[in-house]
Amino acid sequence: MNEIKKVTWRSPSNIALVKYWGKKKGVQIPANPSISFTLEQCYSETTVTLLERETKSKDIEMRFYFDGKANMAFQLKMFKFFESIRKDFPLLSQYGLLIHSTNSFPHSSGIASSASAMSALSLCLCDLQQQLDKKKVSAEKFLQRASHFARLGSGSASRSVYPLISQWGKTKTVKGSSDEYAIPFEKNLHPIFKTFQNTILIASSQEKKVSSRVGHSLMKTNPFAKTRYAQAESNLKEIISALKKDDLEKFGAIVEEEAMTLHALMMCSSPSFILMAPSTLSMIEKIRRFREESKLPVYFTLDAGPNIHLLYPKNIAKKVDQFIYAELEQHCESGKMIHDNVGKGPKKMK
Ligand code: PMV
Repeated sequence: MNEIKKVTWRSPSNIALVKYWGKKKGVQIPANPSISFTLEQCYSETTVTLLERETKSKDIEMRFYFDGKANMAFQLKMFKFFESIRKDFPLLSQYGLLIHSTNSFPHSSGIASSASAMSALSLCLCDLQQQLDKKKVSAEKFLQRASHFARLGSGSASRSVYPLISQWGKTKTVKGSSDEYAIPFEKNLHPIFKTFQNTILIASSQEKKVSSRVGHSLMKTNPFAKTRYAQAESNLKEIISALKKDDLEKFGAIVEEEAMTLHALMMCSSPSFILMAPSTLSMIEKIRRFREESKLPVYFTLDAGPNIHLLYPKNIAKKVDQFIYAELEQHCESGKMIHDNVGKGPKKMK
Protein backbone atom coordinates (compact mmCIF):
# COMPACT_ATOMS: atom_id res chain seq x y z
CA MET A 1 0.00 0.00 0.00
CA ASN A 2 1.37 3.39 -0.98
CA GLU A 3 2.17 5.61 1.96
CA ILE A 4 1.07 9.22 1.41
CA LYS A 5 1.99 10.93 4.68
CA LYS A 6 2.85 10.02 8.24
CA VAL A 7 3.11 11.90 11.56
CA THR A 8 3.87 10.94 15.16
CA TRP A 9 2.80 12.95 18.20
CA ARG A 10 3.51 12.33 21.86
CA SER A 11 0.86 13.78 24.15
CA PRO A 12 0.67 13.63 27.94
CA SER A 13 -2.06 12.83 30.40
CA ASN A 14 -3.26 15.55 32.77
CA ILE A 15 -4.53 15.71 36.34
CA ALA A 16 -7.47 17.98 37.12
CA LEU A 17 -7.20 20.36 40.08
CA VAL A 18 -10.81 21.54 39.70
CA LYS A 19 -12.72 18.59 38.29
CA TYR A 20 -14.99 18.23 35.30
CA TRP A 21 -17.84 15.96 36.39
CA GLY A 22 -21.17 16.33 34.60
CA LYS A 23 -22.14 17.51 31.13
CA LYS A 24 -24.54 20.07 29.70
CA LYS A 25 -26.63 19.58 26.57
CA GLY A 26 -24.53 19.20 23.42
CA VAL A 27 -21.52 17.09 22.56
CA GLN A 28 -19.08 16.93 25.46
CA ILE A 29 -20.04 20.32 26.88
CA PRO A 30 -18.90 20.52 30.51
CA ALA A 31 -21.38 21.48 33.23
CA ASN A 32 -18.63 23.44 34.98
CA PRO A 33 -15.18 24.84 34.21
CA SER A 34 -12.10 22.82 35.12
CA ILE A 35 -8.34 23.33 35.32
CA SER A 36 -5.49 20.80 35.23
CA PHE A 37 -1.76 20.29 35.42
CA THR A 38 -0.28 18.75 32.29
CA LEU A 39 1.87 15.73 33.13
CA GLU A 40 5.16 14.62 31.60
CA GLN A 41 5.98 10.95 32.12
CA CYS A 42 2.51 9.53 31.47
CA TYR A 43 1.92 9.96 27.76
CA SER A 44 0.59 8.30 24.61
CA GLU A 45 2.58 8.21 21.42
CA THR A 46 0.51 7.88 18.27
CA THR A 47 1.51 7.52 14.63
CA VAL A 48 -1.04 8.06 11.90
CA THR A 49 -0.10 6.97 8.39
CA LEU A 50 -2.22 7.96 5.42
CA LEU A 51 -2.40 5.25 2.77
CA GLU A 52 -3.86 5.02 -0.68
CA ARG A 53 -7.42 3.71 -0.28
CA GLU A 54 -8.08 0.03 -0.90
CA THR A 55 -11.61 0.52 -2.20
CA LYS A 56 -13.62 3.18 -3.97
CA SER A 57 -16.32 3.19 -1.28
CA LYS A 58 -16.86 6.20 0.98
CA ASP A 59 -16.47 4.11 4.15
CA ILE A 60 -13.74 4.98 6.59
CA GLU A 61 -10.78 2.62 6.10
CA MET A 62 -8.80 2.28 9.27
CA ARG A 63 -6.66 -0.19 11.15
CA PHE A 64 -5.74 0.47 14.76
CA TYR A 65 -2.90 -1.14 16.69
CA PHE A 66 -2.27 -0.68 20.40
CA ASP A 67 1.21 -1.73 21.56
CA GLY A 68 1.71 -3.37 18.17
CA LYS A 69 -1.42 -5.53 18.44
CA ALA A 70 -4.74 -5.12 16.66
CA ASN A 71 -7.31 -3.96 19.20
CA MET A 72 -10.94 -4.35 18.17
CA ALA A 73 -12.47 -2.54 21.18
CA PHE A 74 -10.35 0.58 20.54
CA GLN A 75 -10.88 0.28 16.80
CA LEU A 76 -14.67 0.38 17.23
CA LYS A 77 -14.48 3.45 19.49
CA MET A 78 -12.21 5.10 16.96
CA PHE A 79 -14.61 4.38 14.07
CA LYS A 80 -17.45 6.07 15.95
CA PHE A 81 -15.26 9.05 16.72
CA PHE A 82 -14.07 9.36 13.11
CA GLU A 83 -17.64 9.18 11.80
CA SER A 84 -18.55 12.08 14.10
CA ILE A 85 -15.70 14.34 12.88
CA ARG A 86 -15.68 13.24 9.25
CA LYS A 87 -17.00 16.50 7.84
CA ASP A 88 -14.11 18.41 9.43
CA PHE A 89 -11.42 16.04 8.16
CA PRO A 90 -11.64 15.36 4.41
CA LEU A 91 -8.60 13.06 4.80
CA LEU A 92 -10.83 10.52 6.54
CA SER A 93 -12.75 10.01 3.30
CA GLN A 94 -9.77 10.40 0.96
CA TYR A 95 -7.25 7.98 2.46
CA GLY A 96 -6.91 4.77 4.38
CA LEU A 97 -5.56 5.21 7.93
CA LEU A 98 -3.06 3.07 9.75
CA ILE A 99 -2.82 4.02 13.43
CA HIS A 100 -0.25 2.80 15.93
CA SER A 101 -0.49 3.90 19.54
CA THR A 102 1.42 3.12 22.72
CA ASN A 103 1.29 4.39 26.29
CA SER A 104 4.35 5.12 28.44
CA PHE A 105 2.46 3.80 31.46
CA PRO A 106 1.18 0.25 31.82
CA HIS A 107 -2.27 -0.22 30.31
CA SER A 108 -3.48 -1.95 33.45
CA SER A 109 -2.16 0.61 35.93
CA GLY A 110 -5.58 2.11 36.56
CA ILE A 111 -4.43 5.38 35.01
CA ALA A 112 -6.92 6.87 32.58
CA SER A 113 -5.38 6.94 29.14
CA SER A 114 -8.19 8.64 27.24
CA ALA A 115 -6.77 12.15 27.77
CA SER A 116 -3.33 11.31 26.40
CA ALA A 117 -4.63 8.97 23.68
CA MET A 118 -7.33 11.28 22.31
CA SER A 119 -5.11 14.37 22.41
CA ALA A 120 -2.29 12.53 20.60
CA LEU A 121 -4.72 11.30 17.94
CA SER A 122 -6.29 14.73 17.49
CA LEU A 123 -2.86 16.35 17.11
CA CYS A 124 -1.98 13.82 14.39
CA LEU A 125 -5.23 14.41 12.48
CA CYS A 126 -5.02 18.22 12.72
CA ASP A 127 -1.39 18.15 11.63
CA LEU A 128 -2.03 15.89 8.63
CA GLN A 129 -5.10 17.83 7.48
CA GLN A 130 -3.17 21.08 7.77
CA GLN A 131 -0.32 19.64 5.67
CA LEU A 132 -2.77 18.46 3.01
CA ASP A 133 -4.59 21.82 2.96
CA LYS A 134 -1.22 23.61 2.68
CA LYS A 135 -2.65 26.35 4.91
CA LYS A 136 -0.47 28.32 7.31
CA VAL A 137 -2.04 28.34 10.75
CA SER A 138 -0.57 29.92 13.90
CA ALA A 139 0.63 27.55 16.62
CA GLU A 140 -2.07 28.97 18.87
CA LYS A 141 -4.86 28.18 16.39
CA PHE A 142 -3.42 24.75 15.67
CA LEU A 143 -3.47 23.79 19.35
CA GLN A 144 -6.95 25.24 19.83
CA ARG A 145 -8.23 23.09 16.98
CA ALA A 146 -6.46 20.03 18.36
CA SER A 147 -7.98 20.73 21.77
CA HIS A 148 -11.44 21.07 20.22
CA PHE A 149 -11.29 17.67 18.50
CA ALA A 150 -9.59 16.00 21.46
CA ARG A 151 -12.57 17.18 23.54
CA LEU A 152 -15.00 15.42 21.22
CA GLY A 153 -13.10 12.17 21.87
CA SER A 154 -12.80 12.65 25.64
CA GLY A 155 -13.62 15.87 27.51
CA SER A 156 -10.53 15.94 29.69
CA ALA A 157 -8.32 15.32 26.63
CA SER A 158 -8.99 18.92 25.56
CA ARG A 159 -6.72 20.04 28.42
CA SER A 160 -3.72 17.88 27.44
CA VAL A 161 -2.45 19.95 24.50
CA TYR A 162 -0.89 22.82 26.48
CA PRO A 163 2.25 23.03 28.59
CA LEU A 164 2.08 23.07 32.38
CA ILE A 165 -1.54 24.06 33.01
CA SER A 166 -4.72 24.33 31.05
CA GLN A 167 -8.28 25.57 31.61
CA TRP A 168 -11.44 24.30 29.93
CA GLY A 169 -15.05 25.44 30.19
CA LYS A 170 -16.69 28.82 29.79
CA THR A 171 -16.55 30.95 32.93
CA LYS A 172 -16.66 34.67 33.75
CA THR A 173 -13.50 34.15 35.81
CA VAL A 174 -11.30 33.45 32.76
CA LYS A 175 -11.18 35.74 29.74
CA GLY A 176 -11.26 33.77 26.48
CA SER A 177 -12.48 30.56 28.15
CA SER A 178 -14.67 28.23 26.12
CA ASP A 179 -16.79 25.10 26.41
CA GLU A 180 -15.52 24.00 22.99
CA TYR A 181 -11.79 23.86 23.70
CA ALA A 182 -9.28 24.36 26.47
CA ILE A 183 -6.93 27.32 26.65
CA PRO A 184 -3.32 27.66 27.86
CA PHE A 185 -2.95 29.09 31.34
CA GLU A 186 0.81 29.19 31.88
CA LYS A 187 0.98 32.97 32.19
CA ASN A 188 -1.02 32.80 35.42
CA LEU A 189 1.27 30.33 37.10
CA HIS A 190 3.71 31.24 39.89
CA PRO A 191 7.12 29.58 39.21
CA ILE A 192 6.81 27.29 42.26
CA PHE A 193 3.96 25.40 40.57
CA LYS A 194 6.08 24.77 37.47
CA THR A 195 8.27 22.55 39.68
CA PHE A 196 5.35 20.48 40.95
CA GLN A 197 5.78 16.74 41.28
CA ASN A 198 2.95 14.25 40.92
CA THR A 199 3.62 10.85 42.38
CA ILE A 200 0.87 8.46 41.39
CA LEU A 201 0.36 5.81 44.06
CA ILE A 202 -1.37 2.83 42.50
CA ALA A 203 -3.95 1.66 45.04
CA SER A 204 -5.47 -0.70 42.52
CA SER A 205 -4.89 -1.39 38.84
CA GLN A 206 -8.25 -3.05 38.29
CA GLU A 207 -10.45 -1.68 35.55
CA LYS A 208 -13.06 0.81 36.78
CA LYS A 209 -16.45 -0.65 37.68
CA VAL A 210 -18.21 2.47 36.39
CA SER A 211 -16.94 4.39 33.37
CA SER A 212 -16.54 8.19 33.34
CA ARG A 213 -19.25 8.32 30.69
CA VAL A 214 -21.75 6.74 33.06
CA GLY A 215 -20.45 8.83 35.98
CA HIS A 216 -20.99 12.08 34.06
CA SER A 217 -24.52 11.08 33.10
CA LEU A 218 -25.45 10.23 36.71
CA MET A 219 -24.89 13.90 37.56
CA LYS A 220 -28.15 14.63 35.72
CA THR A 221 -30.13 13.18 38.62
CA ASN A 222 -27.67 13.91 41.42
CA PRO A 223 -29.50 15.98 44.08
CA PHE A 224 -26.34 18.02 44.75
CA ALA A 225 -25.54 18.84 41.12
CA LYS A 226 -26.50 22.50 41.24
CA THR A 227 -24.52 23.13 44.41
CA ARG A 228 -21.58 21.24 42.96
CA TYR A 229 -21.46 23.33 39.79
CA ALA A 230 -21.56 26.54 41.86
CA GLN A 231 -18.76 25.16 44.07
CA ALA A 232 -16.60 24.37 41.03
CA GLU A 233 -17.00 27.96 39.76
CA SER A 234 -15.98 29.36 43.12
CA ASN A 235 -13.11 26.88 43.55
CA LEU A 236 -11.79 27.81 40.12
CA LYS A 237 -11.72 31.48 41.07
CA GLU A 238 -10.00 30.69 44.36
CA ILE A 239 -7.42 28.33 42.93
CA ILE A 240 -6.48 30.79 40.20
CA SER A 241 -5.66 33.38 42.83
CA ALA A 242 -3.61 30.76 44.74
CA LEU A 243 -1.76 29.72 41.56
CA LYS A 244 -0.80 33.30 40.73
CA LYS A 245 0.83 33.78 44.11
CA ASP A 246 2.61 30.95 45.83
CA ASP A 247 -0.32 30.27 48.12
CA LEU A 248 0.33 26.56 48.53
CA GLU A 249 -1.97 26.19 51.51
CA LYS A 250 -4.99 27.54 49.68
CA PHE A 251 -4.04 25.54 46.57
CA GLY A 252 -3.89 22.32 48.62
CA ALA A 253 -7.16 22.95 50.45
CA ILE A 254 -9.03 23.41 47.16
CA VAL A 255 -7.39 20.48 45.41
CA GLU A 256 -8.26 18.10 48.26
CA GLU A 257 -11.79 19.44 48.52
CA GLU A 258 -12.23 18.81 44.78
CA ALA A 259 -10.98 15.22 45.06
CA MET A 260 -13.25 14.45 48.01
CA THR A 261 -16.24 16.13 46.35
CA LEU A 262 -15.76 14.14 43.14
CA HIS A 263 -15.91 10.88 45.06
CA ALA A 264 -18.71 12.07 47.35
CA LEU A 265 -20.76 12.81 44.21
CA MET A 266 -20.20 9.25 43.05
CA MET A 267 -21.27 7.88 46.41
CA CYS A 268 -24.51 9.89 46.45
CA SER A 269 -25.42 9.20 42.82
CA SER A 270 -28.35 6.95 42.09
CA PRO A 271 -27.27 4.20 41.75
CA SER A 272 -24.41 4.92 44.09
CA PHE A 273 -20.89 3.74 43.31
CA ILE A 274 -17.50 3.80 45.00
CA LEU A 275 -14.23 4.08 43.10
CA MET A 276 -11.94 4.49 46.10
CA ALA A 277 -10.27 1.42 47.60
CA PRO A 278 -9.66 0.85 51.32
CA SER A 279 -5.98 1.66 50.72
CA THR A 280 -6.98 5.01 49.17
CA LEU A 281 -8.41 6.07 52.53
CA SER A 282 -5.44 4.71 54.48
CA MET A 283 -3.12 6.80 52.31
CA ILE A 284 -5.27 9.94 52.64
CA GLU A 285 -5.16 9.68 56.43
CA LYS A 286 -1.39 9.24 56.42
CA ILE A 287 -0.85 12.16 54.04
CA ARG A 288 -2.94 14.47 56.22
CA ARG A 289 -1.11 13.36 59.36
CA PHE A 290 2.31 13.75 57.71
CA ARG A 291 1.39 17.26 56.57
CA GLU A 292 0.24 18.26 60.03
CA GLU A 293 3.39 16.95 61.68
CA SER A 294 5.95 18.02 59.10
CA LYS A 295 4.24 21.27 58.05
CA LEU A 296 5.31 20.43 54.48
CA PRO A 297 3.07 21.39 51.53
CA VAL A 298 2.09 17.88 50.38
CA TYR A 299 -1.42 17.41 49.02
CA PHE A 300 -3.41 14.70 47.30
CA THR A 301 -5.93 14.55 44.55
CA LEU A 302 -7.85 11.71 42.92
CA ASP A 303 -9.05 10.99 39.43
CA ALA A 304 -12.10 8.85 38.72
CA GLY A 305 -10.35 5.88 40.34
CA PRO A 306 -8.64 4.69 43.54
CA ASN A 307 -5.12 5.96 42.84
CA ILE A 308 -3.66 8.84 44.83
CA HIS A 309 -1.96 11.69 42.99
CA LEU A 310 0.45 13.25 45.46
CA LEU A 311 1.27 16.88 44.63
CA TYR A 312 4.23 18.80 46.06
CA PRO A 313 6.97 21.24 44.97
CA LYS A 314 10.32 19.84 43.90
CA ASN A 315 12.25 21.55 46.70
CA ILE A 316 10.79 19.09 49.25
CA ALA A 317 10.96 16.01 47.01
CA LYS A 318 13.68 14.30 49.10
CA LYS A 319 11.65 14.49 52.32
CA VAL A 320 8.44 13.46 50.57
CA ASP A 321 10.21 10.49 48.97
CA GLN A 322 11.28 9.28 52.41
CA PHE A 323 7.67 9.55 53.57
CA ILE A 324 6.38 7.74 50.47
CA TYR A 325 8.71 4.78 50.89
CA ALA A 326 8.27 4.58 54.67
CA GLU A 327 4.49 5.04 54.85
CA LEU A 328 2.69 4.85 51.52
CA GLU A 329 4.45 2.22 49.43
CA GLN A 330 2.97 -0.55 51.60
CA HIS A 331 -0.55 0.52 50.54
CA CYS A 332 0.24 0.42 46.82
CA GLU A 333 -0.62 -2.67 44.79
CA SER A 334 2.65 -4.61 44.53
CA GLY A 335 4.36 -1.37 45.63
CA LYS A 336 3.49 0.22 42.29
CA MET A 337 3.87 3.96 41.78
CA ILE A 338 4.75 6.37 38.99
CA HIS A 339 6.88 9.47 39.55
CA ASP A 340 5.53 12.18 37.32
CA ASN A 341 5.72 15.98 37.25
CA VAL A 342 4.19 19.03 35.62
CA GLY A 343 5.33 18.89 32.00
CA LYS A 344 5.94 20.80 28.82
CA GLY A 345 3.00 19.49 26.79
CA PRO A 346 2.79 17.56 23.53
CA LYS A 347 5.70 17.04 21.17
CA LYS A 348 5.85 16.19 17.51
CA MET A 349 8.21 13.23 17.19
CA LYS A 350 8.29 12.75 13.40
O1 PMV B 1 -12.69 13.03 30.05
P1 PMV B 1 -13.57 12.09 30.77
O2 PMV B 1 -14.93 12.01 30.16
O3 PMV B 1 -12.91 10.74 30.96
O4 PMV B 1 -13.84 12.68 32.24
C1 PMV B 1 -12.80 12.88 33.16
C2 PMV B 1 -13.32 13.25 34.49
C3 PMV B 1 -12.29 13.36 35.60
O5 PMV B 1 -11.08 12.76 35.24
C4 PMV B 1 -12.81 12.65 36.83
C5 PMV B 1 -12.04 14.80 36.00
C6 PMV B 1 -11.27 15.66 35.05
O6 PMV B 1 -11.61 16.85 34.98
O7 PMV B 1 -10.31 15.18 34.42
